[in-house]
Amino acid sequence: MSACQEKVPIWRIVLLFIACLSVYMYLYTNAFDNMRTSSVYRVVEGDLQAVLKDKIGSISYYLRLMEQSDNSLKIAVSSSAAGKPTINTTRASAVTTKPTTKAPTTQSLASISALLREKFKSEIEAGTVKPLLTLFTSWNENSEKSLVHKLTVTNWNSLKPFIVPLIFTNDSSVAKECSNSGWEARNISVAAADGIPVLKYMYKDAIANYNSTFYAYANGDILFNEKLVNTLMFLLNSTVDLSSPVLIVGRRTNVDNVTYEEGSAWDNITKAARSRGKLFTGWAEDYFITTRGYPWKDIAEVVIGRRAYDNWLVYHSRKSKFTVIDVSMTVLAVHQTTKSGNFEGHQHPNRDYNHNLLVKMYKRIKYNAGVIECIDKATEYEHNVLQVKTRKVHNSCSV
Ligand SMILES: *[C@@H]1O[C@H](CO)[C@@H](O)[C@H](O)[C@H]1NC(C)=O
Ligand SMILES: *[C@@H]1O[C@H](CO)[C@@H](O)[C@H](O)[C@H]1NC(C)=O
Ligand SMILES: *[C@@H]1O[C@H](CO)[C@@H](O)[C@H](O)[C@H]1NC(C)=O
Ligand SMILES: *[C@@H]1O[C@H](CO)[C@@H](O)[C@H](O)[C@H]1NC(C)=O
Ligand SMILES: *[C@@H]1O[C@H](CO)[C@@H](O)[C@H](O)[C@H]1NC(C)=O
Ligand SMILES: *[C@@H]1O[C@H](CO)[C@@H](O)[C@H](O)[C@H]1NC(C)=O
Ligand SMILES: *[C@@H]1O[C@H](CO)[C@@H](O)[C@H](O)[C@H]1NC(C)=O
Repeated sequence: MSACQEKVPIWRIVLLFIACLSVYMYLYTNAFDNMRTSSVYRVVEGDLQAVLKDKIGSISYYLRLMEQSDNSLKIAVSSSAAGKPTINTTRASAVTTKPTTKAPTTQSLASISALLREKFKSEIEAGTVKPLLTLFTSWNENSEKSLVHKLTVTNWNSLKPFIVPLIFTNDSSVAKECSNSGWEARNISVAAADGIPVLKYMYKDAIANYNSTFYAYANGDILFNEKLVNTLMFLLNSTVDLSSPVLIVGRRTNVDNVTYEEGSAWDNITKAARSRGKLFTGWAEDYFITTRGYPWKDIAEVVIGRRAYDNWLVYHSRKSKFTVIDVSMTVLAVHQTTKSGNFEGHQHPNRDYNHNLLVKMYKRIKYNAGVIECIDKATEYEHNVLQVKTRKVHNSCSV
């Protein structure tokens, strides 16, 4: 009797087959609708193929996802303070919650993503897949920024094991503080303009010393949440060729004086950004996610934290015909704005270091073609599927 119950009933398999078939037909017809204007990368399709080929474990896993959408199963997903998503599935018989009318798609996208994260997490912990991203930054001791840095350390830690947080610093007290908190720490290998790290060598060092699918420098005052993990996880299964040079950037949301409570949990970051965040201009790019295949060795020796390098990098990548993707719509990047404001890189000595270097190398630099609005590929969710859509950009974006 009990042995019988443990097997997956045949009707479930039939149901799965019908469901897959209809998703397929939907995807197929929809792909044709979009074909003329955009190249659409679909993630779910690949998933279903994998599941069909896979063992019963995956099938029952997918059945759980599907049952959830017809509400016979209630899936509760919550993010704990430490940022570890926990999944609690319980049969909802007596206490059936009515399907909420407000944004059911968002709810089930969040649940599906949480399940996929949980699965991915156990695979990373088992060593069967690489972490998604080695995420690095650099700062020195600065008492005015101590809360900002503390929050960044806590926040990037909450994204482990998907993300490997790493600091480049020669400041031994900073290195010690970060590594005691669970970050990796490395010395700056090449600096310029009075000791500022040169961007490309941080990538080179990170790639040489850590295994992950993606590598990114981000400014030390940027907070992320699960949306970054979801986007990268979905991109991994998409048809975007990750063995080629890919650059992924997005707009940031400025939030003034982020408090410890606001910044130390994913949900609270989302709330603060919603209630008092301001989406900043597409001229500012604060994080640069690249694949291992991005040709960092050929990149000019620009330094971080001084203007021009961000727009130049995007411009250069577009000009070089690398895949450039704007993830503003699916990634939240909160900039912790303090009293030094939103244009810090414009106030320092050596403020034009990068520009002066670049004009010596290139005749013409169209910084304006390196703004986020000029990127013609962008991620968005449609029917719980992450897509990379091609969009039209302004004529002034030509390179
Ligand atoms: C899961 O939910 C049930 C009912 O809501 C609860 O009794 C149980 O403690 C929860 N388990 C976990 C691990 O949170
Ligand atoms: C940085 O270099 C110093 C001096 O060479 C060394 O003592 C220290 O261990 C290095 N730090 C790291 C994190 O490698
Ligand atoms: C850090 O140390 C390296 C050598 O270990 C040196 O080249 C670099 O200039 C130093 N950076 C700073 C900011 O002192
Ligand atoms: C990265 O993974 C490869 C094998 O996949 C291994 O040979 C190499 O040592 C790893 N590198 C690091 C830094 O862990
Ligand atoms: C990606 O595909 C693999 C199977 O190839 C599957 O196990 C995994 O759950 C999928 N992940 C996402 C985020 O879709
Ligand atoms: C943020 O705090 C600074 C003082 O540290 C204050 O001058 C500024 O007005 C605050 N901004 C907001 C929006 O509260
Ligand atoms: C998140 O914010 C709530 C108040 O809105 C607070 O009670 C809670 O402690 C915060 N979470 C963390 C981890 O600080």
